Amino acid sequence: MDVKRAIQGRRAYRSLDPVEITEDLITDLADSARLAPSCFNNQPWRFVFAYDPETLKELHTALSRGNEWAQQASMIIAVFSKPDLDCIVGEREYYLFDMGTATAFIILRATELGLVAHPIAGFRERRVKRILEIPEEMRLITLVMVGKHSEAISPVLTEGQIESEKTRPERMPMEKFVYINKYREEE
Ligand SMILES: Cc1cc2nc3c(=O)[nH]c(=O)nc-3n(C[C@H](O)[C@H](O)[C@H](O)COP(=O)(O)O)c2cc1C
Repeated sequence: MDVKRAIQGRRAYRSLDPVEITEDLITDLADSARLAPSCFNNQPWRFVFAYDPETLKELHTALSRGNEWAQQASMIIAVFSKPDLDCIVGEREYYLFDMGTATAFIILRATELGLVAHPIAGFRERRVKRILEIPEEMRLITLVMVGKHSEAISPVLTEGQIESEKTRPERMPMEKFVYINKYREEE
């Protein structure tokens, strides 16, 4: 097993080169999501794997400012679900949790295959749903941009984004989020 390598190797790169999208690749990624755990094995996940050039072009019109780099993605995976496809325990709705797990599996598998799989929140949900014919009641949680990492920095990136291409954005130190035995409020 080499999960740690995939975890460490994964990056949300924004400089993308094209990659050939095949049915085998889609099946491979979808199978990784399929094996994810979910509450009561409800499997609330739904995905559209979009890669035909016309559809991609339409989707580009739904990207938020700052996400122009995503126009270089060879495939866009739309990740969606709704609360009643999964457990609701009191006030806890598990569909977002399970969608995150399944999407992480896709991202890690793509990383293992040498690809970039970069999730984004910056898009117009209604517009994407209309383009992909995803029903209104669904929550479109993320779009995952798939491509190959390009050594050449994308010309549309901001300074901050260029910095992130070179160095992984900083993480909190463990003391900020790890508690042993009991949670302790910060002083
Ligand atoms: C839910 C989610 C939404 C994100 N939305 C965007 C986005 O709209 N645009 C973007 O360029 N990056 C987006 N990112 C990528 C993060 O900025 C990135 O993961 C973070 O800066 C850490 O960098 P790293 O993944 O390379 O370690 C998103 C990531 C997640 C998980």
